Amino acid sequence: MDDNKLSELSKRIMGAYEGALVSGMVYLGDEMGLYRAMHEQGPIASEEVAGRAGLHERFVREWLSLQAAAGLIEYQGNGLFYLSPEAGLLLAEEDELRSMARWFDNFPQRTALLSEIPRSFKTGIGISWSDVEKGGTSGRVQWMERLLRPWYEQVLVQAVLPELDGLVEELNAGARVADVGCGSGVAVVTMAEAFPESDFHGWEIAPLALDRCRENAIQAGVTNASFHDVNNLQLPEDNSFSFVATFDCVHDMTSPDELATAIYNSMTADGRWLIVDPTSKGSLEENIKMPLAVFGYAASVAGCLQSAMSDPGGAGHGVFGLPAPAMQELTEKAGFTRFRQLDIAHAMNSYYEVRP
Ligand SMILES: C[S@@+](CC[C@H](N)C(=O)[O-])C[C@H]1O[C@@H](n2cnc3c(N)ncnc32)[C@H](O)[C@@H]1O
Repeated sequence: MDDNKLSELSKRIMGAYEGALVSGMVYLGDEMGLYRAMHEQGPIASEEVAGRAGLHERFVREWLSLQAAAGLIEYQGNGLFYLSPEAGLLLAEEDELRSMARWFDNFPQRTALLSEIPRSFKTGIGISWSDVEKGGTSGRVQWMERLLRPWYEQVLVQAVLPELDGLVEELNAGARVADVGCGSGVAVVTMAEAFPESDFHGWEIAPLALDRCRENAIQAGVTNASFHDVNNLQLPEDNSFSFVATFDCVHDMTSPDELATAIYNSMTADGRWLIVDPTSKGSLEENIKMPLAVFGYAASVAGCLQSAMSDPGGAGHGVFGLPAPAMQELTEKAGFTRFRQLDIAHAMNSYYEVRP
């Protein structure tokens, strides 16, 4: 027994436990508007934070003390707490791309799912995205929507679509577009707003996600976007789509091979498939060293792998199961001949343009 190792590991385990507790407290601060109440206010006393947020001072003071202990908010003495501009950007600003408060959205509901997950370990069958939403309580769709909305609204049309030669011109002129596994439909709605001449279709398997897609389309007032339940209407294999996108979902599919074939058959002879999927280095040794490895594997056990194993015989790739060579092989098996990784830097994802 190595005493140093024991001490090092016990600190690491306690750090993990404290991280979970702090996550819960960040969730509370975001949910109750505490960070927003302190944003751009300078040093502020607990009474004033409580007053601005409409909450009871004694609980707010204890929460502030925890935030100071965790190093998120600064304690300046004399009862004054300070949310620095940097902490404000990360915890109080909703539309800022670098904002992190949204990562904690629906934290209790998503954590509650832990009680369901042991069943998957025992049976080998995962919880699908539609099953997980059946009770309407997991909040996963809502969480993903809030997490990714700024990226779709500020980056997709502005910086990603122009990387596919000639695509923006095609969409301006009018094209048929599909987004498979479209989640809450933010990408579809954003693109439909940007390209009113084109006709956008989202496909989803989760009913609550589809409801959210339709709400988002109505709210944005777009009339060139429609959404389909894959259980009722499959992607039509009629060579009519000149652009198909899959954002963060190939690895979630129980049958990515079937998905690739369906996309191939849906596409015009010179169409394009934009794949955005998690970056994988191809080996566990390298993957566990990636900066977001812990988040990725945890999201996999609780979400992506669950989805990909939700049918008996599901492919079960998991979040890091499709490194570029495996993704290329998957597309080539379906008939695609051109595969290009796009030069776009992203903390978690790789981008591929795939063509027949
Ligand atoms: C990680 S989420 C990504 C959602 C969305 N593309 C986004 O970026 O916000 C994966 C999505 O794939 C959907 N999905 C899983 N299997 C599917 C299938 N066979 N057909 C259509 N959608 C599916 C899930 O319901 C879920 O919404």
